[in-house]
Amino acid sequence: MNNHGNHDHPASPFEMAHGRPFWGLAAQQPKFGSLFNEAMEADSQLIARAVVEECEGVFEGLNSLVDVGGGTGNMAKAIAKAFPNINCTVLDQPHVVANLQGTHNLDFVGGDMFDKIPPANAIFLKWILHDWSDEESVKILKKSKEAILSKNEGGKVIILEINVSPDNKKMDKKSIETQLMWDMLMMVNLNGKERSEAEWEKLFLTVGFSLYKITHTLGLRSLIEVYP
Ligand SMILES: C[S@@+](CC[C@H](N)C(=O)[O-])C[C@H]1O[C@@H](n2cnc3c(N)ncnc32)[C@H](O)[C@@H]1O
Repeated sequence: MNNHGNHDHPASPFEMAHGRPFWGLAAQQPKFGSLFNEAMEADSQLIARAVVEECEGVFEGLNSLVDVGGGTGNMAKAIAKAFPNINCTVLDQPHVVANLQGTHNLDFVGGDMFDKIPPANAIFLKWILHDWSDEESVKILKKSKEAILSKNEGGKVIILEINVSPDNKKMDKKSIETQLMWDMLMMVNLNGKERSEAEWEKLFLTVGFSLYKITHTLGLRSLIEVYP
């Protein structure tokens, strides 16, 4: 069995213990699913302010954005509020976005990111790629690249993820240890992993992106812009 029905993958320790992959259990057990979504909402609330205040330039000139795997929409709500000219769409699994209300510049779409991502100037991926193996991440990034409108005029993918710091970089030891703890959490729950800059670069080159920039560091995570 697999998380999204596309192909087989080795079972994660979570799947071995629970008989179902993480997203399968979240879909089938509403209590577990809601608890997980609430945890994501709390995290998004925490970091959304830093994203819209400190990374304002990243959103300049955009008029549409899709938050892929955007959960119940806390991050997209903050972006839509701070930048009223950007039409924001949250794409997530149908049961996650069912019955959620949008606003004049925010809507919710149920779907599968491995199948199709709605077109937009910017494709936003927060805490998505670390859930997936390299092979699956390449698929998500390919769909993201296809979805970018205005490819020659600033259209891009915006990624908010851990960029595991090599020891010789500025980050303190405790922060690096915390990043590696996340790495283990992703491996145990989801067949995912945290990535270093070299590992990010390899993914972007595999998909055929021409340029990437790590523009901000927000606590343990970094904001990466990737251009087609
Ligand atoms: C780690 S959560 C991140 C949620 C949100 N981006 C955030 O950071 O708060 C991953 C999200 O991916 C969604 N997801 C998993 N598989 C998906 C798929 N095939 N298509 C669309 N969304 C998916 C989950 O429902 C979940 O909301």
